[in-house]
Parts: sequence; structure tokens; C-alpha cells
Amino acid sequence: MNKRLQAIEALVRPGRGLIDVGTDHGYLPLSLARHGYPGALFASDLREGPLNAARRSAAAAGLSSRICFQLCDGLDGCDRSAVDTIVIAGMGGDTICGILDRAEWCMDPRYTLILQPMTRAEVLRYWLTNNGFVIEAERLAEDAGELYALLCTRFGGEQRLSDAELYTGAFEQIEQEELWPVFLSRQRDRMEKLLAGLRKSGREPGRLRLMEAVAEELKEREAHAKYSGNL
Ligand SMILES: C[S@@+](CC[C@H](N)C(=O)[O-])C[C@H]1O[C@@H](n2cnc3c(N)ncnc32)[C@H](O)[C@@H]1O
Repeated sequence: MNKRLQAIEALVRPGRGLIDVGTDHGYLPLSLARHGYPGALFASDLREGPLNAARRSAAAAGLSSRICFQLCDGLDGCDRSAVDTIVIAGMGGDTICGILDRAEWCMDPRYTLILQPMTRAEVLRYWLTNNGFVIEAERLAEDAGELYALLCTRFGGEQRLSDAELYTGAFEQIEQEELWPVFLSRQRDRMEKLLAGLRKSGREPGRLRLMEAVAEELKEREAHAKYSGNL
């Protein structure tokens, strides 16, 4: 288990059951089984190869009977009555949106969703907040020099995020994280590069204006945090 997966596991609360969508090597459900997670555990993947690797790891640990392995696309094969926690980690933000979009049943406050996008987290936050989900908590995890955003979300309620917050997570949540200063400075660097590219190409004036506004908001937030001693 790398630090990113450990941070995801730390967000899991005891419950009826958990599905790890796109489990790959199956490390997360395996670790949950080892640590005595009380509910049912489901490990699913789109591809046979990763799922077989997960099966082998579970067998080697003597935990095969604890985990149900499923070959399926997203949440298509999930028994919704057997789970209350859905983990989708290590995929692009747009892939995660696609999976959730096809599983309307998870638009129900009884399900806790733990999502960890590798890219395009802003697309995922936009999708969630425009589809009735509330991001209840955001965490930052560092692993091998990379920073990862972890979102804990649930259907039911209204949440508004500014354009900059779509990129960083809600300020009031994310600013409490120890890694926030590093994260903020990386987001600003990323934004600068994006802006330079957009200015050079001159092809997307609307997007350029939006990105300029986001960069400005991040700059203001940084000044605010410096003044209040948080940076
Ligand atoms: C990079 S791995 C991430 C593994 C693990 N979840 C993690 O965070 O370390 C992505 C896995 O997701 C699987 N995957 C991609 N799209 C999927 C989909 N639509 N449904 C189920 N699994 C999918 C891939 O086959 C791959 O095993």
C-alpha cells in the first residue's frame, strides 16, 4: 500500500459494504480485509488481467473468501443493496464522471463516495456539484513527490464552488490541510503554464479569460493566507 492508498483507506468508515471500482492489484480491499473492515468487500475491474492479479494477492494472503471479485465496467455489476461505500481511485476525473453518470442509483445520500482523480479533478468537482452531490471533505495526500486530492462526497444538498475552487477544492476545507501551501503553489505553476500556452495559441479566448480569473483568485487566496499566517 503506497501513501496515496493509505490515505484513501483512512477515509473509510465501518459499514455494510464497500466496492473498490478499478481495483487493479486489489491492494485497497486486501488491506481493509487485513485490518478487519466489518462489511462485505467487492473488488471490481474492467479488465481480466488486473482482476486475476488481485485474486492472486488475496489468495496469497489467505483472504480470498473475504473479497468478491467482479469483472465489470464501473458500477454496472455492483449489488447496490450490499454496499454503502464506493471507492473510485487512480483514474482520470472524466472517467470517474462517466462511471457515476451511468449509475444513477448512487445519487442517494445513503452512499458515501470516496473519489481520487489522477487528472482533471476540476471536471469531477464540476460534475458533482452540478448533479446534487456535496463534497463533505477533501484531503491531500503526498506520494513519491506527487500530490493527490481525495474527495469524500454524498448526494443530497447544494454546494457552490468558485471557478478557482473547482481546481483546488473548497477553500474552507482544503486550506486546513498541511499540504495546502505546496498544493497551492503547484496549482499556481500549473495555471501559469496553461495561461502561457493559451496566450501563445490565441485560439481559445473564452478559456483564456476563465483561466486568468482562476489564476487571479488563487493569487488573492495566497495573499490572504500569507496575511493570516497560514502560508
Ligand atoms: C491506475 S489503476 C488504479 C488502481 C487503484 N484503484 C489505485 O488507485 O491504485 C486503474 C484501474 O482501473 C481500471 N478501470 C479503468 N476504467 C474502468 C472502468 N470503467 N470500470 C472498472 N475499472 C476500470 C483499469 O483496468 C485499472 O486496473
